[in-house]
Amino acid sequence: MKRGVLFVLFATMLPLLALAQSVRNEVQLSRGWRFSLESEAMKSDGAKVAAENYDDALWEVVAVPHDWAIKGPFDENIDKQVKMVVEDGETVAKLRTGRTGALPFIGAGWYRVKFSVPEGCERAILTFGGVFGEPVVYVNGHWAGEWKHPYNTFNVDVTPYVYRDGRENVLAVRAENLEETSRWYPGGGIYRPVFLTTTSVTAIDCWGLNMTTLSLNDKGDVTASFEAKATGYEGKNLVARWSVAGKEFEQAIDCNGKAFTAYTFAGITPWSPEEPKLYDMKVDLLLVEADGSRRVVDSKTERIGFRTIRISPEKGFELNGKTRKIKGVCMHHDLGMLGAAENKAAIRRQLELLKSMGCDGIRTSHNMPSRWQMDLCDELGFLVMAESFDEWADGKMENGYNRFFYDWYKRDLANLVNNHKLHPSIVMWSAGNEVRELWYKSKVKGVNPGATISQMLVGEFHRLDPSRPVTVGMNKLIMDTEIGAAQVYDVPGFNYHPHLYDEAYAKSGHGFMLGSETASTVSSRGVYHFPVVNTCLIGRDKATRDSLKKAGICFADYHNSSYDTEVVSWGNLPDYDWVEQEKPWVIGEFVWTGFDYLGEPSPYNEVWPSRSSYFGIIDLAGLPKDRYYLYRSRWNSVQPTIHLLPHWNWEGREGEITPVYCYTNYPTAELFVNGKSQGRRTKTKDGDILDRYRLRWNEVVYEAGEIKVVVYDENGSKVGEKVVKTAGKPHHLELYANRGTGEKERDYSEMYNECNPTTFSLGGHLKADGNDMAFVSVRMVDKDGNFCPTAQHQLFVEVEGEGKFKGICNGDQTSLEVFTNPTMKLFNGELVIGVQTTEQAGNIVVKVSGKGIGSASITLKSK
Ligand code: GAL
Repeated sequence: MKRGVLFVLFATMLPLLALAQSVRNEVQLSRGWRFSLESEAMKSDGAKVAAENYDDALWEVVAVPHDWAIKGPFDENIDKQVKMVVEDGETVAKLRTGRTGALPFIGAGWYRVKFSVPEGCERAILTFGGVFGEPVVYVNGHWAGEWKHPYNTFNVDVTPYVYRDGRENVLAVRAENLEETSRWYPGGGIYRPVFLTTTSVTAIDCWGLNMTTLSLNDKGDVTASFEAKATGYEGKNLVARWSVAGKEFEQAIDCNGKAFTAYTFAGITPWSPEEPKLYDMKVDLLLVEADGSRRVVDSKTERIGFRTIRISPEKGFELNGKTRKIKGVCMHHDLGMLGAAENKAAIRRQLELLKSMGCDGIRTSHNMPSRWQMDLCDELGFLVMAESFDEWADGKMENGYNRFFYDWYKRDLANLVNNHKLHPSIVMWSAGNEVRELWYKSKVKGVNPGATISQMLVGEFHRLDPSRPVTVGMNKLIMDTEIGAAQVYDVPGFNYHPHLYDEAYAKSGHGFMLGSETASTVSSRGVYHFPVVNTCLIGRDKATRDSLKKAGICFADYHNSSYDTEVVSWGNLPDYDWVEQEKPWVIGEFVWTGFDYLGEPSPYNEVWPSRSSYFGIIDLAGLPKDRYYLYRSRWNSVQPTIHLLPHWNWEGREGEITPVYCYTNYPTAELFVNGKSQGRRTKTKDGDILDRYRLRWNEVVYEAGEIKVVVYDENGSKVGEKVVKTAGKPHHLELYANRGTGEKERDYSEMYNECNPTTFSLGGHLKADGNDMAFVSVRMVDKDGNFCPTAQHQLFVEVEGEGKFKGICNGDQTSLEVFTNPTMKLFNGELVIGVQTTEQAGNIVVKVSGKGIGSASITLKSK
């Protein structure tokens, strides 16, 4: 036989060989989907739309994850809500615009895609990461499954409906969003990935593996328990075999289809935020034949991390036997310019920015996390509070999850826990956020279902996972402790009200507590209001705003000041939280929020245009606000922070008081304005709380030129300085990509070294897989390279080569320019462009231009 023929024969046999050896196969269904919003005709005949032969040729071709609403346009009439938000202390219903992002997510939509399963496969499962909302799944025209909770991952066993003879199958999914389902932007459609897993009947059960670290010591000795669950085990002699950290051990599958064992390892590096060491856990399922011979019928590999958690009155929160405080942030699911459509590179960027701030915790507010997000939290090292519900049966929203709570909560908790239990990053489950049963009904009707439902949920969590504590975010601290609800939880989580911590802590009787939600400070990047007012001291509602306006304090810009002194009426400044965080019995905090998100534009949710939040430490584009450096100065204990604000371009303010703040981890600094000393400041516990954590010069008079701060350590030695100059005229643009520049790849932890993550690049190459993304930040500078902090130029973007323009965002909460058109105004000198690779390797050139400032470009490399 000729060599060429032999090769062809061998190559065509390869897939068959592969099939015979490894029956498990997992693919992501991401390409080739067709999408259409539901027309009246489609609505009246859903069965036809789900049918195999339905003609979808004219539907839009989309990739999944997808968000049908992100391309806009923004419209104040979308989901306009007249609501009394009792959680915010309101007593009358008020009109709210932009509360859910003002993007067109309401309505129904259909998705269809073709897929095939390997010939001879015995079991086919579709896993949906999350669908907005109320998805119904059809395969080849048959109803195959549905789910209610839009954030939960769910499996649909489609084995009975698929062709297993090589023919293509048609998957159709209908999703529908009603109005008043959410308190923030939900997104529309299949916004998280869909996976198809095929196995034989006898296989490792989907989510059937577990591992719990039982003990570990400083020497790296670790004892852990292992569990494997099989399907199709009846009448079979099966053994589970583990390969972990170079060791192999096995255990027979019992008559319930389960195998449990424990193993002691030496030389293990425990998982921690500082060293997030992960190990591969390979599990083989072996079939033992009558003659004693054994053959592998299934194999699965998961990433695991060994770590212990313990919370006690004596030692607080211990990870691997060491007490620490959680320095966390709350995160909603949207990804700014991408909307809800999940993208791993975008989540990674968010986490890297948080990490370099010194943040080590994520609360997945107020819902189930996603697999990609948790994989990344494992890999980068975050302590996760994984939440379940924003409401139980007593809804905050007319059409929210309350409609399904009693029927579905068990299934939802089971999927949350089973799907995510292997992630070392998850250190506690949360049964809910500010749910009304915990206070509202008891207040209004004198009944008290909070403690009872809490018992029901905590019991369910413990049954599903005895290894992790359960918490909840409670916002009526005293009432929640007095009605006995707080006591049901392993960890009492209190939202806001730091002034009540002492009393709530004493009343709950746990001996410790968590700041499950803190701050709700509001700011807009690059915006500064004069005079500087600590609204924490005066509260903030429309009446207050009007009186401030009258007093000459103008909030007519619908923005909040980056002096970081403005809060919503129920919130407080970071400084107030930190006073409490210093108490030994407070085990940490989750700040509201790490990033700005779409929707909930408090305190401007009664006015238009305003369509995204002001709470973020980082803005919607992913650009750090000044507050980033305030948290960094306290949280990042590895690298110094020296940050100066405001900017120094105040034409028209000459001679006026323009306070200057320095955010630094050091205790003392001296400020100079054009060389003239403004005196030294040292952080102090006496007087104003803000002077404990910030260095403030409140009487500085503005004159153009430069401000310079010289910083001193505890010994009085000079340790650094920072200068901010008045920029000249806008001259040209500077572009920085967060990664993919082709330069030597750097570890994200090096971001610690630079106090300006906006201009930081990790180098390396992008992946030519059609999914990977880089984020290019664009800054306006003068001819000498000084940042122009007030530039608002309209910019235009072109992307050439092996990449495509994916989105654009400037972080302005009031902007009505859509994220999906390649043009946008700078907001205070900056914006960010999202670029996605194609499936071809090559260069990607991102070119940005604007009137009077020419153009600038950056080349990214994809391979
Ligand atoms: C909290 C609530 C969050 C968000 C926040 C805004 O009370 O839990 O979801 O609404 O207020 O400050």
